[in-house]
Amino acid sequence: MAKKISTVFFCTECGNESSKWMGQCPACKAWNTLVEEKVSTTPAGSRKRASVSGAVAHRLSEIDMDESVRLSTGIPEMDRVLGGGIVHGSLTLLGGDPGIGKSTLLLQMCENISRSSRVLYISGEESLQQIKLRADRIGSFNDSLLLMCENNLTDIEAVIRKEKPEVVIIDSIQTMVSEDVTSSAGSVSQVRESTAVLMQLAKGLGIAIFIVGHVTKEGTVAGPRVLEHMVDTVLYFEGDRYASYRILRGVKNRFGSTNEIGVFEMGSEGLKEVPNPSEYMLNGRPLNASGTVVACSMEGTRPILIEIQALVCQSNLGIPRRAAVGTDANRVNLLMAVLEKRLGIHLSGDDAYINIAGGMKMTEPAIDLGIAMAIVSSFREVPVGDDIVVFGEVGLSGEVRAVNFGEQRIAEAAKLGFKKAVVPAVTYEKLGKVKGIEIIPVANLSEAIELIRV
Ligand code: TYD
Ligand code: MG
Repeated sequence: MAKKISTVFFCTECGNESSKWMGQCPACKAWNTLVEEKVSTTPAGSRKRASVSGAVAHRLSEIDMDESVRLSTGIPEMDRVLGGGIVHGSLTLLGGDPGIGKSTLLLQMCENISRSSRVLYISGEESLQQIKLRADRIGSFNDSLLLMCENNLTDIEAVIRKEKPEVVIIDSIQTMVSEDVTSSAGSVSQVRESTAVLMQLAKGLGIAIFIVGHVTKEGTVAGPRVLEHMVDTVLYFEGDRYASYRILRGVKNRFGSTNEIGVFEMGSEGLKEVPNPSEYMLNGRPLNASGTVVACSMEGTRPILIEIQALVCQSNLGIPRRAAVGTDANRVNLLMAVLEKRLGIHLSGDDAYINIAGGMKMTEPAIDLGIAMAIVSSFREVPVGDDIVVFGEVGLSGEVRAVNFGEQRIAEAAKLGFKKAVVPAVTYEKLGKVKGIEIIPVANLSEAIELIRV
C-alpha cells in the first residue's frame, strides 16, 4: 500500500491534529503546544481493522466471566491500586518522574508473576545486562520471565504472537517506534500510534500490557493526553526525591476505584511495601511542641495519620509571607482569614508556613481543622498535645463540618495509641462506641481552639 506522507501539527497537551501551525490549540486552548510532525496516512487504519478478531456482537449473558478473573501481581499494595489485581486484556500506563522506580516496580511484579505465568519484559531503554544487574538486586527470578531489548513495534508484535505471554511490559512507550509512522520515537504521533497498536494486541490476544510513560516537567505523561484516554488504567508513581517512600496512585481505572494508593519504600534491594503508612509518616515526630498537630486524611479506603506543622511568626514585610508545602496554599489563606474574622485572632501581620511532614501531599478538606489548630498552636506557642488526633472540615463561618469515614479514622488513631480525637460534632452523633479513645466533639473553630490553652 502506498504511503502518503504529509506534515501535520499536533498539540502536545491534548493531541489535537491540525493542518497548519497556530499559536493556540483550537481544541484545548493551550498556547505554544503545537509541534510539527510528518505522518503517513493510509496503513494505520487498515492494520487496526485486520488485527481485531471477528467482529461479532454478544449478549451480556453470553460473556464468559472466567476470563476476567484477576491475576495477582504478588504485591498487595499494587493489587489494591489496580482494583484487586491485573485484568486480562487490559492496557495499563505507569507514569512517573525519571528514576522514581517505575522499572524496578514492574520488574518486581514480573518476578512474582513469572512464578505462575509467562511474562515478557521489553525494554527500549536498557540493555539486557543492565536489566540483569537490577534483577540481581531485586531477587531470584524464574525462567519463565522473557527479556527483550527492542523498540520496533512490528518485531515486538511478532514476538508477542509467537511467545504468547500473559503479561507484557513495555519500558517505555516513548522509545517505541512504529514503522507506519515516519516521525521520530517519542513524538506525539509515534506515541499515539504505538499505544493504539498495543491496545489492539491487548484486546485481541487477551494479554495484560503495562506501558511505562515518562512524565514532563508539568507532571503529566509526556505525549498527548489522548494516551491517558486510550488506556484502561493510568497509574502514577510519585514520591519525594529526598524521602525514600514512594506512592503508587490510580488516576484512572476502568476496573476499580481511583482513590486507592499503595505505599512503598525504596531500599537497597528494590521496593518494599509499607503496610502501615501512618506509623511510617509519624516517625520522628517532635513531642510536646507547639505548632504541630496530628490529623487524619483518607486516601481511598485507607486512613492515614499525618503530622501538620505550622510556624507563625511576626512579619517584617509589608505583605506577610504565606507558604504551604504538601497542601493547598489557598486553603491555608482561607483558614487564616476565618481565624482572623470569626475568632478575632490577629494573624494579618504574621508570616505563616505550613508543612505536611514526611513530604506527603494531602488536600482532603478533613485536614482543615488540623491546619487551623496547628496555626493557633504556633501563634499562641501552646502545644496541642501528643496524644490528640484531629479531623474536620472548616467552613467560612468558622463551623466544623462533617466528614465521612469517621469510624475508620478513629480506629486508625486508636490503633496507633492516640488517646483523644477531636471530631466534628455532626460526625460524633453518627459514631458508634469506640473503645480506648476519648472523643471530643466540636461544632465550631472556637470550641476547637479552646483546647489550646495554657
Ligand atoms: P528505576 O526503576 O530505574 O526508575 P525509573 O524506571 O522510574 O526511571 O529506579 C532507579 C532508582 O532506584 C535509582 O535511583 C536507584 C534506585 N534503586 C534503589 O535505590 N535500590 C534498588 O534496589 C534499585 C533496583 C534501584
Ligand atoms: Mg526505567
